[in-house]
Amino acid sequence: MSDARPGEVLVSPERLKERVDELALEISGDYRGRDLLVVGVLKGAVFFIADLVRQLDIPCELDFMAVSSYGSKTHSSGVVRILKDLDSPIAGRNVLVVEDVIDSGLTLSYLLRNLASREPASLEVCTLLTKPGHRRRGLDTRYVGFDLEDVYVVGYGLDHGERFRHLPYIAVLDPGTDPPQA
Ligand code: IMP
Ligand code: MG
Repeated sequence: MSDARPGEVLVSPERLKERVDELALEISGDYRGRDLLVVGVLKGAVFFIADLVRQLDIPCELDFMAVSSYGSKTHSSGVVRILKDLDSPIAGRNVLVVEDVIDSGLTLSYLLRNLASREPASLEVCTLLTKPGHRRRGLDTRYVGFDLEDVYVVGYGLDHGERFRHLPYIAVLDPGTDPPQA
């Protein structure tokens, strides 16, 4: 197993809570009086979506999708496979997709094209994090938690080889060193 580990904390639990509450307030205002379906993208968005919807003061329904993007470990190819689809149709509904991080934006742009073809009444994105690649791509993300530099981060749902999702903060991944075998 690699000895990569969480390094510098970029976003503390307190700052996460503060920002999630702000986003929930904004979303509650924007969707008041409308039917809202919140769609979480597994697995990275689970902590974010759970904290976010509990601060909404409007009714909503939840659904989840799981996707895997083909490509190397560090660069997605834009070819995406749906591992778990939504339980119900979304035609005519107001859909808010909740993502953990948009890096190149390739995964999300595939997902949005796929969901748009099902003719929802509206389709917006709420992502906890963005990176510069996505900002160059000009993807339209209505709600953004934090804009990061081009660094690999873990915690609060984000993983490195399925590790570190459970951390209550967001930290830069310290790649570590391979110690000599004893
Ligand atoms: P994109 O297609 O390049 O936008 O890929 C985004 C996906 O890559 C995210 O949904 C994450 O699963 C993963 N990812 C990108 N950056 C990070 C990171 O810093 N930490 C953990 N996962 C990441
Ligand atoms: Mg993801």
